[in-house]
Amino acid sequence: MRKPIVAGNWKMHGTLESARSLAAEVAAAAGSTTGVEVVVIPPFVHLHAVRNALGESAVQLGAQDVSPREEGAHTGEVSTRMLRDIGCRYVLCGHSERRQYQAESNELVAQKFMAARRAGLLPVLCVGESFEERERGETEQVLRAQLDPVLRLGGPATFEKALLAYEPRWAIGTGKTASPEQAQDVHRFLRSEVAAFSATIADLLPVLYGGSVKAANAAELFSQPDVDGGLIGGASLIATEFMGIVAAA
Ligand code: G3H
Repeated sequence: MRKPIVAGNWKMHGTLESARSLAAEVAAAAGSTTGVEVVVIPPFVHLHAVRNALGESAVQLGAQDVSPREEGAHTGEVSTRMLRDIGCRYVLCGHSERRQYQAESNELVAQKFMAARRAGLLPVLCVGESFEERERGETEQVLRAQLDPVLRLGGPATFEKALLAYEPRWAIGTGKTASPEQAQDVHRFLRSEVAAFSATIADLLPVLYGGSVKAANAAELFSQPDVDGGLIGGASLIATEFMGIVAAA
């Protein structure tokens, strides 16, 4: 049995004050919920304040990115140890916005993923195709190219303490959600790719869906057998909407 996970990626939104109050609202609404793992992923500079605002609630903290390097002269980078220190449990690796706007390659993403694993963080490997790639029938090929460098570096146990997030680029922030069937098809494919290395690990692997998830469409998406929750962008910035999604998980 895989426990559903709903993670709110706040991206580059908000102020210190709005981050504090959103975290406090989510913490109060989530209480000690144990049936669903609720995660908030604020910008780096708000992590400390958000951790304090979450207090003793069961809501977990994540980061949006991490350096593949351990320590040293790497201006602007944030290490896995810093994230651990500040109370993060999760870290996104290879979000499509970083692949697209920061030109992160599949190889760099794989290095970040492995650094996070080594440090005992739970990396969330984000994968997804563009609209044109889907139209050309290249979805599986693109996803395989995103998975392969990670599996090459990590070997058969790569996804043992990790997550996958399928985020079709054409569905991110566009209001166009993948249909539950489209999501299920891809999630099944991703799980089968991991199962080629280890069926047990694939069985336990949480695969989240991301891309215009709202309280109104979450239940249908989450009802698919291989969809284990969501990585939520825009809708995670409104506590009531986000908690509506959590309730659907
Ligand atoms: O990380 C979250 C995803 O990019 C989805 O964003 O819910 O705003 O479409 P969205």
